[in-house]
Amino acid sequence: MRKHIVAGNWKMNKTQTETVELINELKQQDLDANVGVYISPAFVNLSKAVALTADGNIQVAAQNMHQSPNGAFTGEIAVNMLQDIGVNHVILGHSERRAYFGETDELLREKVQVALDVDMEVIFCFGEELNERKEGTHFDVVKKQLTTALFALDVSAWRNIVLAYEPVWAIGTGETASPEQAQEMHAYIRSLIEYHYGVKCADDVSILYGGSVKPANAAEIFAQPDVDGGLIGGASLNATDFAAIVNGFAS
Ligand code: 13P
Repeated sequence: MRKHIVAGNWKMNKTQTETVELINELKQQDLDANVGVYISPAFVNLSKAVALTADGNIQVAAQNMHQSPNGAFTGEIAVNMLQDIGVNHVILGHSERRAYFGETDELLREKVQVALDVDMEVIFCFGEELNERKEGTHFDVVKKQLTTALFALDVSAWRNIVLAYEPVWAIGTGETASPEQAQEMHAYIRSLIEYHYGVKCADDVSILYGGSVKPANAAEIFAQPDVDGGLIGGASLNATDFAAIVNGFAS
């Protein structure tokens, strides 16, 4: 059965001192034990985050990684560097990586494969832009992203994949997809997985929604049958807000 997951993508926020503070605050929150809780601080703070969360149920994810095992790639981070410091989850394909760093689904296919080859769990992000939603091509866009980056994978790879549908127009804008829009897209995504990999695989994949999720709207989004949690940006930078979102599933 698929898991409920709430992941905080801290993006380029929080110094090491602030990272320690926020993790310590989070550890004092009463978090629903049935929800997988992830945090994703900046690269330089990952070691610290792993050490501080070793005694609890919070998982630490990287925000990116390079597709090569090592070499002359100034400024980049390889998968074995992450694993060596105890990071076993990685966010790939975030819309900011796509928009500002030119990441394509072809490149992401490589990164995903490299991560899965060493048993990292991948949180794969995708989603349409505003003009694509307005033109009504959002289903086609999502289908193409998933087909290029993921649908050549073997069915066994899917045990280590979490999907994160993040419509670009809802990220950091305060504009959330309605619960109905999220459910409609998540059901479509699950139908694509069923088509390629069968009903069991489709049933087992956690599909998160991301884009302006806040304590005030988390519960109605998470109540949708095909929404298994959230990837949270801004609201994950505050411990009480993030905890309220984690606790947003009906018990
Ligand atoms: P916001 O929650 O700030 O809209 O960011 C969403 C996001 O990009 C998470 O990866």
